[in-house]
Amino acid sequence: MRSKLLQMLIDHQGHFVSGEAISNHLGCSRTAVWKHIEELRKAGYKLEAAPRKGYRIIHQPNVLTESEIKAGLATRYLGMNVHYDKSVNSTQEIAHRISREGAPEGTIVVADEQVAGKGRLGREWFSPIGTGIWMSMILKPKIPPQQAPQLTLLTAVAVIRGVKAATGIQCDIKWPNDILLNGKKLVGILTEMQADPDQIHSVIIGTGINVNETDFPEEIKEIATSLKIEKEEEINRATVIKRILEHFEELYELFLEEGFLPIKKMWEDHAITVGREITARTTTKTLHGFACGITDDGVLLLKDETGEIHKIYSADIEF
Ligand code: BTN
Repeated sequence: MRSKLLQMLIDHQGHFVSGEAISNHLGCSRTAVWKHIEELRKAGYKLEAAPRKGYRIIHQPNVLTESEIKAGLATRYLGMNVHYDKSVNSTQEIAHRISREGAPEGTIVVADEQVAGKGRLGREWFSPIGTGIWMSMILKPKIPPQQAPQLTLLTAVAVIRGVKAATGIQCDIKWPNDILLNGKKLVGILTEMQADPDQIHSVIIGTGINVNETDFPEEIKEIATSLKIEKEEEINRATVIKRILEHFEELYELFLEEGFLPIKKMWEDHAITVGREITARTTTKTLHGFACGITDDGVLLLKDETGEIHKIYSADIEF
């Protein structure tokens, strides 16, 4: 009920919506409408009420509850189930658990804080309270397990498009899963899988986005940034999530129908890794050379000084 009311007010942002129109839309009495409006006010919304005109929204709090994420979300299934917690160890952990318990494809897990946020390569992910987006999506695609890493690249494109739609900010992709803004890390993506050798049970895609952070711990100060730092204004996290989910669902459908090729082209349009001299540090070796492209599987191709082409499956990249 609250999501529906919010959605209606957000859809008419800047304009009044009459109490009668709301009560017809929600199928409840005018008194019930008034009670829901009061609840929204208590939750931090500033709502103007005018006699004979109705209600209009003046200010939305920067909160990430299920209602805020669902209001005005234009997807068919992604984000229809939202599992929200104020504080968790890691949204990945929760997504793995509820997926095993039967959570449907498209369920998202969101938290206001992670106290043990997981980064790639066993690193920690800085996830302070009330500032960023810490979200995991549960997908159950019918694709061979070896294609699952392509979903990381798809996610990067969806995040770039979603961030652009919500804020106007244009970011770049650094292979395979970093999103940079002005050369600093804005987003990290972690893809994990529950699978048998020939069958995927679920793919859990975790996305960490620095949104309203103004300060970072000493060790990442020089390399991390946030949307607020770059835009110099507070950004509404629920809006960013909605635009990302909408772009993700569209790309995911395309991927399931037509495969990775169309996604690869979009990814290349945003990638700053390809066509440059790079250093790739894998867990076993360090390679230096020219990044000549990615394969249809999303594997990075590096040509060294002898002309030999190396396939890089996982590495840290430096320019
Ligand atoms: C990276 O190291 O670049 C990947 C970072 C991924 C962080 C996100 S935040 C939401 C989800 N939950 C986690 O514990 N990690 C991912």
